[in-house]
Amino acid sequence: MSLQIRFSDRPLGHEILGINTAGDIAADVFAEIEAAYDRYGVILFRNQHLTPEQQIAFSKRFGDLTEYTVKQYNMADHPEIFIVSNVVVDGKPLGMVDAGRYWHTDMWVTANPPRGSMLYAIEVPIDSNGEARGDTCFASTAAAYDGLPEDLRKTIEGRRAVFDSEAYFMSRMSRTPKDPITGDYSEDVKKRMTQRSQNVVQHHDMVKVHPRTGRKSIYFSEEAISHIEGMSVEESAAVLEAVRAHVLRPEYVYRHRWAVGDLVMWDNISCLHKAIGDFDLPLHRTMHRTTLASLVPNKAAA
Ligand SMILES: [Fe+2]
Repeated sequence: MSLQIRFSDRPLGHEILGINTAGDIAADVFAEIEAAYDRYGVILFRNQHLTPEQQIAFSKRFGDLTEYTVKQYNMADHPEIFIVSNVVVDGKPLGMVDAGRYWHTDMWVTANPPRGSMLYAIEVPIDSNGEARGDTCFASTAAAYDGLPEDLRKTIEGRRAVFDSEAYFMSRMSRTPKDPITGDYSEDVKKRMTQRSQNVVQHHDMVKVHPRTGRKSIYFSEEAISHIEGMSVEESAAVLEAVRAHVLRPEYVYRHRWAVGDLVMWDNISCLHKAIGDFDLPLHRTMHRTTLASLVPNKAAA
């Protein structure tokens, strides 16, 4: 079989046709799916019907899974599934509400971040005009690497960026509105401030080589990088802004408009992603995510 693919007009975000991810997929067909995933970075399947067990089983065809670091939103009887949801049941949130609303790679706090993730749409918010809300955007950092201006490539090649969870937290807090009456953060935000885990710092190569394809990609997350090794904070900020502006050029970005039953998978080395938070209750959005473990084993957290 030769896989049928409906290509987007960007380097990533291509739809694989005629595949039931809940069914038995022959080894040769699966090999083509995995090759497309490795090659393009984001592939998707429409009109899927997956139980949690079936999503886990399909995910495991790619190798070991890893559990999401914020354990409270992992499904109780299937902890491999991380729930992203704005639905509240009996006063308790079903999942994480505001996951990933900045350009990032997943779990940059780990020395060797996951290979990728798979997100399955259970509920998609539809506005009064019948339009789906809560899109997810993806940027190909592999295509962006290929298109780097020579001077910027020379600046970042061989360099390491310092990812700092405290810097990220402070940046995120600076965007969090305070209560207009008390002039202070809400009780919920204060609780999150006190409950946040210990500060984690990771030094990541700014250009990573994909362990399966050998292709180079720019490794970046906005707000998470305090500085670049060997550069001042000011010098780093200018370089990071140039990297950000380059990676997010429209020709590298695919914006996915969700429909119920979509299964989208992204490579965590060759692309960045960002969730768009343009919806609120009573509109519901619920997604189930599985995370593919790094192909480079994490020995000990630095
Ligand atoms: Fe994410």
